[in-house]
Amino acid sequence: MELAHILESQQFAADLDGLDDFYRLAIDMEHIFESGGDPSILKGAHAVNLFSQPSTRTHASFRWAQYYLGVNIAFDSENAKDFSSESKGEVPRHTVRVHSQYCHDPRKIVIVLRHGNFKAMQEFAQYSPGAHIINAGCGKSDGQHVTQTLGDVLTIRRERPGLKRPVIAMVGDLRNGRTVRSLSYLAPRVFPETKIIFASPITLAMMPDIKEYLSRHGFVYEETFEPKDFPEVLRQADVVYMTRIQREDLAGSDLDRFEEYQLAFQLNAGNLDGIKETGLIMHPLPSNKELAPEVDDDPRAVYLTSQLHNNLLVRMAGLHTLLKPHC
Ligand code: NCD
Repeated sequence: MELAHILESQQFAADLDGLDDFYRLAIDMEHIFESGGDPSILKGAHAVNLFSQPSTRTHASFRWAQYYLGVNIAFDSENAKDFSSESKGEVPRHTVRVHSQYCHDPRKIVIVLRHGNFKAMQEFAQYSPGAHIINAGCGKSDGQHVTQTLGDVLTIRRERPGLKRPVIAMVGDLRNGRTVRSLSYLAPRVFPETKIIFASPITLAMMPDIKEYLSRHGFVYEETFEPKDFPEVLRQADVVYMTRIQREDLAGSDLDRFEEYQLAFQLNAGNLDGIKETGLIMHPLPSNKELAPEVDDDPRAVYLTSQLHNNLLVRMAGLHTLLKPHC
């Protein structure tokens, strides 16, 4: 698959053969991971990691991916909002040109970007003089987190290879979460005849643009806002994709109800038994109270194991796809 940037799920949804190639590459990355890395693979390539919002997994796994493939980390900011010129109001079209200017060949640079504003990410790509942009989680209720989704879909495929017509339940803060937006774009393309069930408090419902996209393409989805329906959602689901209530994005009465919202669709010992034996429990993390501690040890829960692993592999594959042609 030839790509200049990795920005949104639609790039992969539009090219399923390319996605298969990408996943083959991701699986190949497992050998490199298992051997402890091969720094010759992307020798001469450089990474600029710009994180303007908090991140643990995405940032760490990109750094590991860069280590395994021998990418030089030229610049790394885990608080770019406060400790880079972004704090002084620098515009994305300048930031991308500045970072590109230091390299004799900007095509050897990848800028791994986490940003609160999706349009800022688009500007990085638009004004880039050759550096490749990877969306490491950008935007909010208009946003996407495409590398998370690539890893999530790979996890479902690897964990449940024979899964036909999966029912995927997305649960929690669907309005503010960018992971579920990216997943909604890609999952129904990859898994034919899937049904998506959105389960959330009514004020945190999935945004209309995603629902319009699903309807326009004839993909099936349902919505529920009633905690009393949650056991039935769990009973139907092949994949239970939990997300946290994003307190930082709540205001007014939603903020007052933060605690209540977390518990309304909580997975716990009381309802865990209702999930199919072959079901898969996923979460992009970090989690709060929507996951009771006992869920961690459930054999169907993969958010601390293969989901993390596959996310690392797709990040390695993403770096390889963008940078290898120039190394
Ligand atoms: C998510 C994010 O930042 O969008 N985390 C992640 O990268 N895995 C989800 C979240 O913040 O809850």
